[in-house]
Amino acid sequence: MSDLIINIGSINIDYVYRVPHFVQPGETLASETFTSGLGGKGANQSVAIAAAGGRVKHIGKVGSTDGWAIEQLNQAGVDTSLIETTSGASGHAIIQVDAQGENAIVLHAGANHQLNVNELRTALKANQDAKLLLMQNECNLLAESLELARAMGVPCALNPAPMTSDINHLPLESLDTLIVNRGEAAALAGTEQINKLVSQLQSRFKHTRVVLTLGGAGSILIHKQQVYECPAMATKVVDTTGAGDTFVGYFLAGLVAGMSDQDSLHRASQAAAIAVSRPGAIDAIPTLAELN
Ligand code: RIB
Ligand code: NA
Repeated sequence: MSDLIINIGSINIDYVYRVPHFVQPGETLASETFTSGLGGKGANQSVAIAAAGGRVKHIGKVGSTDGWAIEQLNQAGVDTSLIETTSGASGHAIIQVDAQGENAIVLHAGANHQLNVNELRTALKANQDAKLLLMQNECNLLAESLELARAMGVPCALNPAPMTSDINHLPLESLDTLIVNRGEAAALAGTEQINKLVSQLQSRFKHTRVVLTLGGAGSILIHKQQVYECPAMATKVVDTTGAGDTFVGYFLAGLVAGMSDQDSLHRASQAAAIAVSRPGAIDAIPTLAELN
């Protein structure tokens, strides 16, 4: 097996507005700053994998006028040979970032929902030696992707973000790795309470490595009936957008490179803390050199 990660992931154009507070019903709110650029949970995670020194090939689609997004991923060290352009618009995200650094996002799937199962099968067949197949929940064909990977014997990692109700019906127990934040975990387990969450995840996932990310409260790894807690690094919160993606990319790149679960977790936490302390999503992802 190679050390390759295949990421079937979204590519968005992010429109980011700094606001004093999230816009209220009926309110028209002036933004303090505006920036736009490459984003999407899939693209962010691919960039984080590459930043962590991993080898990643991205499968996804963008609108035909957004070739620059592919070029930018390429520049970041992502293998873009399986990214295609389609007619119609790219996925995009309208992101408000408030004074506390929290975000609220309106998402339009666009080209991210134009994946085609035959193309996917061909792409995966040609990369059956991949060590891991990664997915989030911003592209179509998630169930089909999991099924194809299972049939080909490629281990899968899922970050079910943003969470939707159909996720719980997927055969999540067959995953190699599941990475969820508190809200996503609560939707899976039906409780918000951390102790209950952990024990529910523990009894449901006997073989899957589950990582529960808790922002400023750190993260919890549940694997083979063991529970391991990793504290968060203290940091000034500037913009949390993409911090979860940074965590996912760094954590998986660590695992695939042969690091222990614990070491990967600590490194991912460190990378996410740096991402939180900087504005932007993809632009905030640290390089390995910045971690040390
Ligand atoms: O996780 C952050 C990402 O979520 C943004 O880049 C935006 O595109 C949304 O998908
Ligand atoms: Na950030």
